[in-house]
Amino acid sequence: MKIDIIDIDKPQLVDFQKVGSSSLGYISVAEELPFEIKRVYWTYYAPHEVTRGHHAHKELKQVIFAVSGSIKFELENIAGQKTKFVLDSPDIGLYIPKLYWRTMQFSHNAVLLCLASDLFLEEDYIRDYNSFKRWT
Ligand code: TYD
Repeated sequence: MKIDIIDIDKPQLVDFQKVGSSSLGYISVAEELPFEIKRVYWTYYAPHEVTRGHHAHKELKQVIFAVSGSIKFELENIAGQKTKFVLDSPDIGLYIPKLYWRTMQFSHNAVLLCLASDLFLEEDYIRDYNSFKRWT
């Protein structure tokens, strides 16, 4: 099913729906994303007191799930607009366009699953906040 991304340039929560029932369990499916998935990675056992992220991507687009636990995100664009999101349900994805500085904090049992538009390329990262704010 084609997912409903309202504005391709804005981070947003996306409902992936659930197939199943409370008695049997559920399946959620990601297909027909607005980008081709070239990489899938998952992040886990991140201590709650650690803040991860601290970077932006020049081109990479992502849809991120908390398939277990909950993950708090703070996103910021180059103009300084900040948005907070909480992922706490496996059927909800967070779409992150390119050029958003992100930090995230995991609950102790959280597993982050990311569907990404490209392979891992360190040169796609902007890891210095001041460089990000000057990015054109
Ligand atoms: P990073 O993306 O900075 O993690 P986070 O945003 O969760 O803080 O990646 C952490 C390290 O893992 C970094 O050294 C790069 C490496 N890494 C890979 O080798 N391949 C990958 O696909 C990813 C996402 C990270």
